[in-house]
Amino acid sequence: MARLTVERLTKTFGAAPVLDDVSLAVRDGEFVAILGPSGCGKTTLLRQVAGFDRPDRGRILIGDDEVSGPTGHVPPERRRVGIVFQSYALWPHMSVAGNVAYGLEVAGVGAAERARRVDAALHLVGLDGYGERAPAMLSGGQRQRVALARCLVTEPSLVLLDEPLANLDVHLRAAMEREFARFHERTGTTMLYITHDQAEAMALADRIAVMSQGRVLQFATPSQLYREPADETVAAFIGEGMVVPVDVRDVEGSSCTAGLFGAVVRMRCDASQRRGAASACLRAEHLRVTGGAGAGFAARVVAMTYEGGSFRVEARVDGGDALLHFHAPEPCPLVEGAALRLDVADGWVIPPAAG
Ligand SMILES: Nc1ncnc2c1ncn2[C@@H]1O[C@H](COP(=O)(O)OP(=O)(O)OP(=O)(O)O)[C@@H](O)[C@H]1O
Ligand SMILES: [Mg+2]
Repeated sequence: MARLTVERLTKTFGAAPVLDDVSLAVRDGEFVAILGPSGCGKTTLLRQVAGFDRPDRGRILIGDDEVSGPTGHVPPERRRVGIVFQSYALWPHMSVAGNVAYGLEVAGVGAAERARRVDAALHLVGLDGYGERAPAMLSGGQRQRVALARCLVTEPSLVLLDEPLANLDVHLRAAMEREFARFHERTGTTMLYITHDQAEAMALADRIAVMSQGRVLQFATPSQLYREPADETVAAFIGEGMVVPVDVRDVEGSSCTAGLFGAVVRMRCDASQRRGAASACLRAEHLRVTGGAGAGFAARVVAMTYEGGSFRVEARVDGGDALLHFHAPEPCPLVEGAALRLDVADGWVIPPAAG
């Protein structure tokens, strides 16, 4: 196992940078998810780490070894990196064991040692006894596990996974997520897991790097991303956060009072937060319908969607265009067009952009 260090990586295709000054320090044994919308540069980052591509600037270290950078470029086969792709192309004419053994055969590992390692890898992914089957006789999830075994059998120091569950149905995905988590617990392998599914990233990762347009916006634990987003993009992207204007008044430690749509509310903030105009991130669970005529601020329901046991309520704040949403349990007296007052129980003042 090894740590992975990416330092100020830049990669440009044509005019626009696809990776723009990307830095990441992944700890030994850590499970890191790279999360971001389609086209933000996730696969490009993985290709630089794997060594399929050379960055324009910056460097990559696996453990203490520089594998890309000013000192040169270590080819993929010498990086000890295992890769699992979304399309886990197994060779259909080979048995499961043959597929898993192939990389060892190419590397010149003897037959007895090969058989031992293939058995161990199949055991690790829960496929004991499946060695002689043809890939066509496996389910999608089992095939993905063979792909994982094929990657692990080479004893990589780092495993890269590029949307490995994207082709599976929702139930299988959930089962495979649990398997990945268990596998990581058992082996302690350093893993870099690319996905654009935030529930998957939240469920699996120790830390998540949120990418947008070739940049890492925030690299933090799932809970930190949710509770303390570093900027408006992360706030809105993770957990459908609502970004609202606030007027920060008194800051005491990591809490403050702030003006919000004419009401005064308490929010969490960074201890270095200054007074004055800022943006805050609200979550659906921070909003409450309040009874008192003077409490909170006025809004009007614009849409109600039944969610089974509760409604998703969208409301527009009076005198502006801010659109908020929250969940109201069933039975619910609200209807579209109804006036209501909302109060805010919590929120996070987004720190001003650094630099
Ligand atoms: N070899 C290449 N030549 C030119 N442009 C490329 C090349 N590889 C990637 N790109 C561009 O770089 C951008 C990032 O691509 P990348 O594959 O890294 O995105 P991604 O985040 O993995 O997206 P997805 O979630 O859709 O897989 C895209 O705009 C893509 O068109
Ligand atoms: Mg991709």
